[in-house]
Amino acid sequence: MTVDLLLGLQWGDEGKGKIVDVLTSKYDIIARFQGGPNAGHTLEFDGIKHVLRTIPSGIFHKNAINIIGNGVVMDPVVFQKELEGLEKFNMDVKSKLLISRKAHLILPTHRLLDAASEASKGKAKIGSTLKGIGPTYMDKTGRNGIRIGDIELADFKERYRSLADKHQAMIAFYDVDLQYDLKEMEDEFFASIEVLKSLTFIDSEEYLNQAIKSGKSILCEGAQGSLLDIDFGTYPFVTSSNTTAAGACTGLGIAPNKVKDVFGIFKAYTTRVGSGPFPTELFDEDGQTMAKVGNEFGSVTGRARRCGWLDLVALKYAVQVNGVTALYMMKGDVLSGFKKLNVCTAYKYKGKEISHFPYNIEPENVEPIYTEMKGWQADLTTMTSYEELPQELKTYIEFIEKEVEVPIKVVSVGPDRKQTILK
Ligand code: IMP
Repeated sequence: MTVDLLLGLQWGDEGKGKIVDVLTSKYDIIARFQGGPNAGHTLEFDGIKHVLRTIPSGIFHKNAINIIGNGVVMDPVVFQKELEGLEKFNMDVKSKLLISRKAHLILPTHRLLDAASEASKGKAKIGSTLKGIGPTYMDKTGRNGIRIGDIELADFKERYRSLADKHQAMIAFYDVDLQYDLKEMEDEFFASIEVLKSLTFIDSEEYLNQAIKSGKSILCEGAQGSLLDIDFGTYPFVTSSNTTAAGACTGLGIAPNKVKDVFGIFKAYTTRVGSGPFPTELFDEDGQTMAKVGNEFGSVTGRARRCGWLDLVALKYAVQVNGVTALYMMKGDVLSGFKKLNVCTAYKYKGKEISHFPYNIEPENVEPIYTEMKGWQADLTTMTSYEELPQELKTYIEFIEKEVEVPIKVVSVGPDRKQTILK
């Protein structure tokens, strides 16, 4: 029996999907514990590239059972499209995918509320993916939400109507110009609810705890990144769930003493999509190179990601909050060709040097302090062993390990499953 967690340590898009996919053969069950279709987990293998939104990244493996946990919010419309996208792979998705009755439903009006709320914020907008995530979690914590299990109830439609009517009144309150055809959106929603009904709904906390008792191994899959956590992220520029390790316990019903390893995924540099502070952000040619070579465009919204140097103050903070036991470094190949690399090892915070992640990292308070390192020139994408990697990269890796006090177990040198080097 083992329960391990896998999560992102930065602002999302670290490459979690690839690593879950690589690790899946070792686990019986892959369980998503938070977030929703704001996520876009990219997997590449055998020349195929695929993006998953709500479905766990273990779906491509033959024997793994995939669970959408109670902490997830599901949009049936997006989910139906996801299922259709998987049809070409000719696999029996329905027998390998189980959905928690306690997961919450994203209604069309949640998406509209997201849009109205963002539009009303003007320049202070979060940069949300506009998938209805915030409003759905608001209804969950406000005790108004509709859950997957409610679809099976006789009064599901009345529950839907009552909540959707309330949302319409709220949308009117925002007083923004929002063009929409709710009837059309609702027709689409109820058609996709019928598709959703063909899947198996379970009491997932019971299923998972029985699985643990019978010796099964479980990998809990996080979405977004630790710096987008509702409590520990760069609030208010965050998502609306706990993306950190604690979220796996509440989002699946697995007790903390059952968890063994916490795998922390990070990029060799940093990216962020949407608004919010980013101390090591680059506005020069170096940032543009990272964006271009790393193909840094959002897999959900297509937006260009902001790029910058690796921030070890933020990484140490994420390692601490999550109790990370092993690090996976992604996209090392993107840094090939830089003569020099900067790594942020401290902040100048309100004039004083600090090495912890403070309450406020807005640019007027925080300035990064860098350690300069030598870059490497070799193309890493065809390398297959740690020994082959250039010495400058090994020095970079060892420097990170010394600073954050956790070993780097894997170095990823390209998007394909095969481009994964074990250290
Ligand atoms: P929301 O969760 O869609 O409301 O977005 C809130 C913030 O989190 C925005 O800055 C988004 O760009 C960011 N965000 C949400 N999901 C992801 C993700 O999967 N990867 C990266 N950023 C994300």
